[in-house]
Amino acid sequence: MDDNHPTAPKKAFVKSYGCQMNVYDATRMEELLAAEGYVTSETAEDADLVIFNTCHIREKAAEKIYSELGKLRVLKTEKQMRGGEMKIAVAGCVAQAEGAQILKREKIVDLVFGPQTYHRLPDMLKENRRTGRPVIETEFPAEDKFDALIAKAPRKSTQVAAFLTIQEGCDKFCSFCVVPYTRGAEFSRIPRQIIDEAQKLADQGVVELTLLGQNVNAYRGDNSSLAALVAELSKIESIKRLRYTTSHPRDMSDDLIEAHATNGKLMPYLHLPVQSGSDAILKAMNRGHDAEHYLRLIERVRATRPDMAISGDFIVGFPGETEADFDATLAIVREVGYASAYSFKYSERPGTPAAERDDQVPEEVKSERLYRLQALLNQQLQNFNAACVDQTLPVLIEKQGRNAGQMIGRSPYLQSVHADLPETSLGKIVLLKITKTMTNSLTGEYPGDSA
Ligand code: 5AD
Ligand code: SF4
Repeated sequence: MDDNHPTAPKKAFVKSYGCQMNVYDATRMEELLAAEGYVTSETAEDADLVIFNTCHIREKAAEKIYSELGKLRVLKTEKQMRGGEMKIAVAGCVAQAEGAQILKREKIVDLVFGPQTYHRLPDMLKENRRTGRPVIETEFPAEDKFDALIAKAPRKSTQVAAFLTIQEGCDKFCSFCVVPYTRGAEFSRIPRQIIDEAQKLADQGVVELTLLGQNVNAYRGDNSSLAALVAELSKIESIKRLRYTTSHPRDMSDDLIEAHATNGKLMPYLHLPVQSGSDAILKAMNRGHDAEHYLRLIERVRATRPDMAISGDFIVGFPGETEADFDATLAIVREVGYASAYSFKYSERPGTPAAERDDQVPEEVKSERLYRLQALLNQQLQNFNAACVDQTLPVLIEKQGRNAGQMIGRSPYLQSVHADLPETSLGKIVLLKITKTMTNSLTGEYPGDSA
């Protein structure tokens, strides 16, 4: 059995749920573990260490983790009976929010740590081994996590497109949202550190960077704005594309809007959540702006960059939402015309002000509204994709497709594009003529191909 082989490297399986920042964090955990001699495992079954990097944003996401843990209980016991081990860690936002409660519900867990402490993972593993007891780390330590990460493990990427966290946390306290409690207060990394990380990624072949932050456009590292940071990053020759997500309508500054006109590396895609089209609901959500403010922003962005693809997040069934409020959401969607969108039923989150309200919307009403909203958004997505047919778009080729000879890339508007291309196209930006649309992707042809 592999379990007992004295020289076999230990295997770690890291699974991420939720947002892109969790994906970034999970990659950093893998790097930390690689520095400790672990290799990455593709499945939990044969791993010596399983880490669930969890999401607390909605109840469903948070509950999923307990069913995953339940599945592992048998595996862990079996493995222990064979003399092997399987350490189980719950990381991320559920860990931050629930802490020791996780251990009460699921005794097989060895480590619980939040998004601000994962750089201590190797130490936590050592402590667990030394004491034989579960380790919980959910403080917001004063030290800079990012400094510690740089010191402990180098950034590695074999990808064409990579995420880079530049800002974390949120001070906005929308009344439905757990993020200010799980990710903590707004914090921006300093530009020097970000530029170094971007340069390392570029040296490893990364061509596209997506700058991540819960409020990315509120970025203020060393008093630099996001627009100034983007300008600096675009000086890195081999980085050809820059994106950023997620933005808040209150932080969409003039210089950032302007950068979309002047900086050719900044992609014409903006994820700008509005959540609702009703002023009364926006106020109750504590969003700090009304529908009109949002619409004027979109207008200005499109005046700067007419082909800008707009993406958004929506919540239906926020407490007190009437049919008229919901109609206002449909109306703003019609007015904007989205290229992509994420929409959710409101989910009561413990500790948030909206969860305390006694005018919660019944589940059936939420479901029915979500259905109608998604039908509209889906229609818009199809329209946006259909409008790309016959256009020639620059597509960054990111990976091989499932079929032989097929490659998959992304358009400037973040659409997935399939095309028959040689493997040597990997990492290149290829001009492809879009020939048709599928549900979630486009098909492109290299114009030179057509015989
Ligand atoms: N219920 C439903 N959706 C939520 N979101 C955040 N909190 C909740 C909640 N309590 C959605 C918002 C946000 C996205 C990341 O998740 O739309 O923009
Ligand atoms: Fe949550 Fe609002 Fe902050 Fe976004 S801006 S992370 S929705 S509190």
